[in-house]
Amino acid sequence: MNSQEKSSLIVGCWQLDDRSWKRIPETDIARALDIYLALGTTHFDTADIYGRSESVLGRLLKGSDCTILTKAVFFDNIPNSTQIRSKIENSLRNLQRDTLDCVQIHWHNPELDFASTFRVFAELLEQGKIRKLGVTNFNTPMLEKALQYATISTHQVQYSLIDRRVENSMQSLCLQHNIALLSYGSLAGGFLSDKFRGISSPPSEGSHARGFYYNSMIRAHGGWQPVLEMLDTLAEVAKKYEKTISQVALNWVKQQSGVTAVISGFTQDRQQIQKNIEALSFQLDKDELQLLSARSSTLFKQPGDIYSYER
Ligand SMILES: NC(=O)c1ccc[n+]([C@@H]2O[C@H](COP(=O)([O-])OP(=O)(O)OC[C@H]3O[C@@H](n4cnc5c(N)ncnc54)[C@H](OP(=O)(O)O)[C@@H]3O)[C@@H](O)[C@H]2O)c1
Repeated sequence: MNSQEKSSLIVGCWQLDDRSWKRIPETDIARALDIYLALGTTHFDTADIYGRSESVLGRLLKGSDCTILTKAVFFDNIPNSTQIRSKIENSLRNLQRDTLDCVQIHWHNPELDFASTFRVFAELLEQGKIRKLGVTNFNTPMLEKALQYATISTHQVQYSLIDRRVENSMQSLCLQHNIALLSYGSLAGGFLSDKFRGISSPPSEGSHARGFYYNSMIRAHGGWQPVLEMLDTLAEVAKKYEKTISQVALNWVKQQSGVTAVISGFTQDRQQIQKNIEALSFQLDKDELQLLSARSSTLFKQPGDIYSYER
């Protein structure tokens, strides 16, 4: 997927990791995947660190021509060539493929020199082991540096009406280098939906990402009250288009410069699947896009570059 291709929905498959999420029986996953496929969704996002996610997708999507994006996570270790190649072989085995559609290198310690890692990935691209190389959660200097060693096609970043740090400097760098922005967290784990409108404080739910991931993001951007006010504005726009709050929130992200696809977390709920797909097939007008952007700018702080407070 490059920045010229049509925006689309990518199904985020972190939710298939049964160490972080409630275990979903494989038959139920298969049923939900059939719904996604029947509705024309063919892109899935996973990672080497999402537990069984890669191997479940490998089994259930075997023989299909779906695009599966995975990740390679190294954190604080600069891997040698053997370690990188063995990670790639492992993902190929899990996904039951001869080639990986896209491998996204996950953020690492910005103090470390990952030049050698990118050189190995550039070779893997040349050898056809991977079709595209992406990154995720890189800050601007890290991406600038990576671009010296390899062609980067995609950047997966958190991007929503609450978290717009990507706009500080990353978006323009990606546009300049034809790097497709793939957004995640565009519903802030589901907080940007009708079900949280008017709720006096955000629930912190055990293992759901809303509780442990998006709650702290919301605190860093100004707290829960501004979210309630944003939900009210989203509701006004949603009413006008006869859509839901979530659909408007996803559509706003989809229409931002450089965004080619919106990653939305795997759900088994047929109605949610349908709504999320429909969310990307209409157009909010310029006036509404501006209204939402202006409201979000007034309500939320954007502290620093991509992934700054998470490190
Ligand atoms: N690169 C990274 O570091 C990183 C980090 C996080 C995520 N990701 C990727 O991005 C994917 C998606 O991220 P995410 O799941 O964290 O964020 P998200 O898409 O903002 O939130 C997904 C959650 O929102 C709720 N939801 C979905 N559709 C809805 C609808 N139509 N109406 C109301 N609620 C709805 C669901 O929760 P309920 O089922 O509880 O309603 C779902 O689990 C992940 O699976 C993963 O692939 C990457």
